[in-house]
Amino acid sequence: MDSQKTMTAHYNDTVVRQFSILAVVVGVVGMLVGVVIAAQLAWPELNFGIPWLSYGRLRPLHTNAVIFGFGGSALFATSYYVVQRTCQVRLFAGPLAAFTFWGWVLVIAAAVVSLPMGYTSGKEYAELEWPIDILITLVWVSYAIVFFGTVGTRKVKHIYVANWFFGAFILAVALLHLVNSAAIPAGLMKSYSAYAGVQDAMVQWWYGHNAVGFFLTAGFLGMMYYFIPKQAGRPVYSYRLSIVHFWALIFTYMWAGPHHLHYTALPDWTQSVGMVFSLILLAPSWGGMINGIMTLSGAWHKLRDDPILRFLIVSLSFYGMSTFEGPMMSIKTVNALSHYTDWTVGHVHSGALGWVGLISMGSLYYLVPRLFGRDKMHSIKAIELHFWMATIGIVLYIAAMWIAGVMQGLMWRAINPDGTLTYTFVESVKATYPFYVIRVAGGLLYLGGMLIMAWNVWMTAISGRSVKVAIPAVNAAHA
Ligand code: HEM
Ligand code: HEM
Repeated sequence: MDSQKTMTAHYNDTVVRQFSILAVVVGVVGMLVGVVIAAQLAWPELNFGIPWLSYGRLRPLHTNAVIFGFGGSALFATSYYVVQRTCQVRLFAGPLAAFTFWGWVLVIAAAVVSLPMGYTSGKEYAELEWPIDILITLVWVSYAIVFFGTVGTRKVKHIYVANWFFGAFILAVALLHLVNSAAIPAGLMKSYSAYAGVQDAMVQWWYGHNAVGFFLTAGFLGMMYYFIPKQAGRPVYSYRLSIVHFWALIFTYMWAGPHHLHYTALPDWTQSVGMVFSLILLAPSWGGMINGIMTLSGAWHKLRDDPILRFLIVSLSFYGMSTFEGPMMSIKTVNALSHYTDWTVGHVHSGALGWVGLISMGSLYYLVPRLFGRDKMHSIKAIELHFWMATIGIVLYIAAMWIAGVMQGLMWRAINPDGTLTYTFVESVKATYPFYVIRVAGGLLYLGGMLIMAWNVWMTAISGRSVKVAIPAVNAAHA
């Protein structure tokens, strides 16, 4: 790309730089809060009796910070970078792109203040109150205009598959946010859901599961389809499979939400539909994973000495693991054991730490030196160390939660010959204690790795400069 004849037009990388840094900063904060709440579950007195340090308030702060603050910023950064390179045009509507950054910063700041103060709509992953929801809508509509405007003004005929995934993520999240956040305000920071009873639950988990499917999966698959081929120096294993992967995944995810509501007041047939679609979801998920991993065909040796590629590829192993586990947990009889236990939390974090976390980190390690005019990150050894700390941290976290979860499920359902319960609830809590301590250790390792990343990004940024990359005049399939 760099050697090609250039025009004076440049890519808009300012907003990419801003979002990349924001992802790292909010990642550190969100994971720190994760470690704090993990520690509170082992040692409850760590809330020091202060209401805004209490578990119930910090938990949504953690989920919002890591999903929307860390994951969201990484998605903004990578999608803005990728859409410009693959369309070979500057980002559409520059000022609007700048607004998405400052608007998102404001959303994060509002969450950091309002959640510890106890303001919440009570809807998981959609806790922020209605004025903040309106701000999110404004940012998101602007994001859609910038992204699709860039695709619409592209100089390359073909729309590269990564953009399909980013585009689906943007559209679906807009739809989910609008429908699920519909509420009647009852004060500046108080509202009531527009839905009631079981309908409210259904809308919430249609949202919740598609937040997983589109926020935590589709956009990150966009990253996979751009950064793995780039870092490996190989074309996507099968472009045809990537198209099948896209349509199959997009279609199937929408129907799986009821697996969050097994054995509830939701009509039984709806639960079964959710289960069946969840089982079908295994196929497109694994098809995509295989496509990503096989992109390394002929370049496997690169895994040995390229820690960035290792981040990207190991993320796919965790993606494969969590998308195998998810369909299994959606089977009603399995869910009867796993639901309400820490097994669910283990599943969440194999996806969140393993898939979302590692692919974002790998992509950011690819981006940062390029954004600051360096040929590589400040320290490759530090990336290597980060990789091992993160991987060992994840394994400790998820293994502890699996064991704890299955143990809790079995203890709760154990009965004596006379029909009485074998264990009291508090016995299961006591038995879980050592696993909560192991999770704190895993979380500390993961957070430690993230701190090393923050240092490495900082050193790369201050020793580099904000470069302007010219847009090549010659059209290629993708730069
Ligand atoms: C240092 C790393 C992390 C630690 C120590 C940590 C710890 C925790 C803890 C203790 C909980 C509460 C579990 C419960 O209520 O029983 C939790 C929930 C959650 N975390 Fe994390 N977390 C970390 C990173 C992340 C990341 C990077 C993501 C997403 C990208 C994430 C997403 C979530 C989600 C979605 C939940 C809610 C789970 C559920 O409702 O089942 N976490 N985390
Ligand atoms: C084929 C793909 C997947 C299926 C079918 C699936 C299925 C499930 C099931 C059955 C549950 C437990 C529901 C319950 O008992 O309450 C669950 C929970 C969850 N999964 Fe997955 N999962 C998949 C992939 C993923 C991935 C890749 C991630 C993260 C990146 C993820 C994040 C979550 C979260 C955050 C929850 C907890 C929701 C809550 O209760 O707060 N899932 N999933």
